[in-house]
Amino acid sequence: MSDAGIAARLKQLRLPAIAAPMFLVSSPELVVACCRAGIVGSFPAPNLRTSEELGAWMAQITAGVQKPSHGEWPVAPWALNMVTHSTSPRLPSDLEQVAEHRPPIVITALGSPKPVIPTVHGYGGLVFADVISEEFARKAADAGADGLVLVCSGAGGHTGNLSPLVFVERVRRFFDGHIVLAGAINTGDAILAAQVLGADYAYLGTAFIPAEESLAQDEYRQMLIDCGPTDLMVTRAFTGARASMLVPSMLRKGLDPAEVEFKVAKFNFTGRQNETVKPWSGIWGAGQGVGRIERVEPAADIIDRLAAEYAAARRRTAELCA
Ligand SMILES: Cc1cc2nc3c(=O)[nH]c(=O)nc-3n(C[C@H](O)[C@H](O)[C@H](O)COP(=O)(O)O)c2cc1C
Repeated sequence: MSDAGIAARLKQLRLPAIAAPMFLVSSPELVVACCRAGIVGSFPAPNLRTSEELGAWMAQITAGVQKPSHGEWPVAPWALNMVTHSTSPRLPSDLEQVAEHRPPIVITALGSPKPVIPTVHGYGGLVFADVISEEFARKAADAGADGLVLVCSGAGGHTGNLSPLVFVERVRRFFDGHIVLAGAINTGDAILAAQVLGADYAYLGTAFIPAEESLAQDEYRQMLIDCGPTDLMVTRAFTGARASMLVPSMLRKGLDPAEVEFKVAKFNFTGRQNETVKPWSGIWGAGQGVGRIERVEPAADIIDRLAAEYAAARRRTAELCA
């Protein structure tokens, strides 16, 4: 049984938004900053080399979110992202850490949510599954996921190719749980648009890469400030799955984007333990919301900007509907 308490806390978010998990970008400081600024913060388990290190990050976050929020809103719940693909050998020992540290939400990616559901529901947590197609959405719903993250075209990192205009409507036909919409969302207007389409929350990755609390290198942050949506390429060359990457980061590594585009790497997601990751370290991901990035700033300032835009978009929409 999942916990109505966490679902209730999600209804009290300052903004209906989740700062999405990002490999080698999300830090415990970023997670805590997002939660204290009123939106869900998250990080991926493969950011850590061992399950013990994963436990230490979760303990740090648990302590961090005990502090009060920066405003009148409550501190938001946080989420752990786990890769459940069969090439992920650490799943059993990571799950032991999950049982101990009890992340309120676990978001599964690149595999079925099934292996994590007994543990997470066992302590009253919620399980969301990241999906890129209606078929995977149905499978995750049938497996018992409490929520679905619909990754659409324009998303950073591993991306989908469905339009959000279609994907939410298709999934709402058979799923009445939490729906999170992902892909190129980097304005308060787009967060409201996600709700208008029928989603409950927006999932924002790229927007938080330049945050002061992220693990991104300074050169990566500057590249995001300098780039727009036409500086991206979707390719399977780096992880085997379709991923949206910054072309200037390929050029910087001496790669020819034209050669890279149609290459397909062997499918493998064991994160840092995977030797095949090394050749593409320094090739950086981003989604089409990259053009909205103007500066490096604290996560709380990014969320203040999104909240102000969201409030303005709501006022405009109210006028439209009047
Ligand atoms: C640099 C980068 C790393 C990412 N790493 C992960 C990851 O480790 N696990 C995961 O489930 N999704 C990962 N994603 C995808 C995000 O969680 C999210 O789906 C995506 O960023 C949403 O699109 P947006 O970047 O356009 O906001 C990553 C995305 C980016 C940009």
